[in-house]
Amino acid sequence: MSALILLSTFCFLLPSLSAYPSPPTTPWRRQVDNTILSFNYCPAAPWPTREGYTITSRLPDSDLQAALAEISASNIKSYISDLVSFGTRHTLSTQNSSTTYGIGAARDYITDKMRTFAFASSGRMTVTVPSYTQPADGDRVLFPVRIADIVATLRGSETPDRYYVISGHYDTRCTDPNDYNCLSPGADDDASGVAVSMELARIMATRNPRSTLVFAAVAGEEQNLYGSNFLAQTYKNASVNVAGMFTNDIIGSSTGPDGTEEPHTIRLFAQGLPPAGVESAARAASRLIVGGENDSPARELGRFIVETAQNAYTGMKNIALIYRLDRYLRGGDHLPFLRAGYLSSVRFTEPIEDYRHQHQNVRIDNVTGEQYGDLEEFLDYDFIARVGRVNLAAMWSLSEAPAAPANVSIDATALTNNSTFTWLPGNETGVAGYEVVWRPSVSPYWTHAIPVGLVQRATVQVSKDDVVFGVRAVGTNGYKSPAVFAGFPG
Ligand SMILES: *[C@@H]1O[C@H](CO)[C@@H](O)[C@H](O)[C@H]1NC(C)=O
Ligand SMILES: *[C@@H]1O[C@H](CO)[C@@H](O)[C@H](O)[C@H]1NC(C)=O
Ligand SMILES: *[C@@H]1O[C@H](CO)[C@@H](O)[C@H](O)[C@H]1NC(C)=O
Ligand SMILES: *[C@@H]1O[C@H](CO)[C@@H](O)[C@H](O)[C@H]1NC(C)=O
Ligand SMILES: *[C@@H]1O[C@H](CO)[C@@H](O)[C@H](O)[C@H]1NC(C)=O
Ligand SMILES: *[C@@H]1O[C@H](CO)[C@@H](O)[C@H](O)[C@H]1NC(C)=O
Ligand SMILES: *[C@@H]1O[C@H](CO)[C@@H](O)[C@H](O)[C@H]1NC(C)=O
Repeated sequence: MSALILLSTFCFLLPSLSAYPSPPTTPWRRQVDNTILSFNYCPAAPWPTREGYTITSRLPDSDLQAALAEISASNIKSYISDLVSFGTRHTLSTQNSSTTYGIGAARDYITDKMRTFAFASSGRMTVTVPSYTQPADGDRVLFPVRIADIVATLRGSETPDRYYVISGHYDTRCTDPNDYNCLSPGADDDASGVAVSMELARIMATRNPRSTLVFAAVAGEEQNLYGSNFLAQTYKNASVNVAGMFTNDIIGSSTGPDGTEEPHTIRLFAQGLPPAGVESAARAASRLIVGGENDSPARELGRFIVETAQNAYTGMKNIALIYRLDRYLRGGDHLPFLRAGYLSSVRFTEPIEDYRHQHQNVRIDNVTGEQYGDLEEFLDYDFIARVGRVNLAAMWSLSEAPAAPANVSIDATALTNNSTFTWLPGNETGVAGYEVVWRPSVSPYWTHAIPVGLVQRATVQVSKDDVVFGVRAVGTNGYKSPAVFAGFPG
């Protein structure tokens, strides 16, 4: 197919299609409107030339719809209730002295559950508990402690070397991060995220994804992200291609401290520039000239998640993509993956946190009479199920799509008003072709796609000076990869 055969669509068609109008009372609500519009949103219409078709949400096919419908809020509630029952899951709490109390009991509970789910996979899902001894660090590890991760790996049928990881952390903390004796239910932070890993493992064990899917529960998040760092380094040392990683951390409540409810909004934090030392100096220097600071792999993954998971089937009306690594003063398990060079790593967190219910001793405040502590009573299980569906829709859409194109570059050797790109073919079967995607440089999401066929080089009639370009792969099954920024000269 020629790049020159173009379908034209125009921005002004759109406002009436806005599915979820809501009043602009919070930044997220404003973004709801932008999100719906933005696939078609043209701040400077009709300039530049609108080449290509307008990108819209990609709705789940019937297989994915069926999987999404299996996510059960009551299963999620029961996993969380079981995890809370261990009293504390602090990383420094008892490892092997009890089957009903402490982090060791929680580790064994999650492992047993995952192994039960894996039975349904006919041997394709394996559950391992990789661990190491973390020495005392003079900070949050007071004495040498075993850090154990639970990792359920469902081997892909077609592209098993391509991994997508979903992770939550099963350790907890109180007000004092090193107090390992206090009651520390950790219902929201982060039994909620672990419950999503567990429920998705249960459902996907009966499916046959093309790529390898990992459902993880890690320890040591509150003690310097040790468990996630161990997992990321293990993958890195084994040269595993982790093509996408989501951490679900504090995804349990949809209600803010003033009672504001946002049950259909989830925040999605996506880092901009890669961590120091991960990319070459030449790449950083190139970015100073041509831009691309808003097109890291994490941002492209964020855009992909919005495109594939914000819909009526997940029930999440607003995936609030936030251009930031994480919230101020906070960190999460996507960071060790980013640092390991896995740049498509992002974080989900509930829309409005209530700090009375995280990192707090369970107590009634003696002045205000308010309940503190990370208790189950503050959770919204339907909301967690919705977050689970967002994860599942995005993960499946990644797994079934071809790999994103590699070594994408733009030809910047001559002054011309068209734009030429090259990329390497993937080594995977099932690629039907490629699309050049573009958006106005001030638009948050890709707005247009130009199908260019099964080629490794394409020229489009849009000036590289005026817009941001990407390239994505299209499968014979219709699934499309995340886009890769196409602005760097080779
Ligand atoms: C606890 O038991 C696990 C599994 O049997 C073992 O790997 C670990 O080393 C033990 N931890 C401690 C602190 O004894
Ligand atoms: C990864 O490899 C480095 C360098 O050999 C080593 O120091 C580190 O312990 C390894 N980490 C893991 C988790 O395997
Ligand atoms: C309230 O509790 C704090 C400790 O949580 C204590 O220091 C303080 O004295 C108490 N105040 C009253 C009025 O009881
Ligand atoms: C593709 O990119 C990789 C990583 O940046 C690089 O090592 C490799 O040489 C490139 N291959 C080609 C053919 O340009
Ligand atoms: C792109 O522009 C250059 C310079 O104007 C021209 O030589 C070339 O034919 C154009 N390519 C296409 C495919 O339009
Ligand atoms: C692009 O360049 C070609 C060749 O120089 C010219 O004919 C054409 O009018 C230009 N198109 C635009 C939109 O400027
Ligand atoms: C495909 O495999 C060839 C040969 O092994 C390799 O040179 C090339 O870089 C691979 N392409 C990609 C995109 O990985």
